[in-house]
Amino acid sequence: MLGILEIKEKKAKKERLTMVTAYDYYMAKLVQETGIDTILVGDSLGNVFQGEETTLKVTVEEIIYHTKAVRRGANNTFIIADMPYMSYHLNPEQAKSNAARLIIEADAHAVKLEGGSDSRIKVIEAIVDCEIPVVGHLGLTPQSINKIGGYKVQGKDEADAEIIIEQAQSIQQAGAFMLVLEAVPEQLAKTITEMLNIPVIGIGAGRYTDGQVLVINDILGLTDIRAKFAHVYQDIGEIAKTALTNYNDDVKSGLFPKKKNIYYPVD
Ligand code: KIV
Repeated sequence: MLGILEIKEKKAKKERLTMVTAYDYYMAKLVQETGIDTILVGDSLGNVFQGEETTLKVTVEEIIYHTKAVRRGANNTFIIADMPYMSYHLNPEQAKSNAARLIIEADAHAVKLEGGSDSRIKVIEAIVDCEIPVVGHLGLTPQSINKIGGYKVQGKDEADAEIIIEQAQSIQQAGAFMLVLEAVPEQLAKTITEMLNIPVIGIGAGRYTDGQVLVINDILGLTDIRAKFAHVYQDIGEIAKTALTNYNDDVKSGLFPKKKNIYYPVD
């Protein structure tokens, strides 16, 4: 398993890191078999698992539930659990206690949280001080959706880009070991990646980050929304639809179950 030291080393060696989300046992098992470096139990499960429009309703209990399942499927992979909306916003004490639950109860190796404001930096410091590895997340931060007014590219103008750059530096300074950059112009992601010592993982951040992360449903065609930055590597949605249609037809026409599926067939 790639541990935190190897993850950090990969940046120095200029080796690209891979990350994908997973939410359940079997997908996690498949991910581990491919050799993908890290799994994120993202609060994107609110969208692609629960069918919600935003990630805002995901709870700590739900992240624990899904992380436990993922851990069972991929017990030899570095697992990052997302901290849900309002599980770290009140104060560093609340953040520490919820981060600790993700480590102790869910068996995650690290936690991820969004934003880089001054109060968020204090939260990162507090969690790191509890010996819990933290991944930062800047750019498009879906938990801020109501504030930013839509799933839009962030850091397009110089002033916004400057804020993201400063926050990225503060996140590294606060002790985070990795940063996710979502939906920003490629040049901004390149600048930040070159500036930081910690690995920068992009999603919709172009080609020059230290690694990439995608939501598993986007890779497998199991989503209604096709983001520009995502790539459907295999349309499992279509394959599943064909399989289910065939099953439906076979039952209705008497072709299923077949003899081989029956215990002690009567004829
Ligand atoms: O929740 C999630 O899946 C994420 C990724 C999009 C980085 O935060």
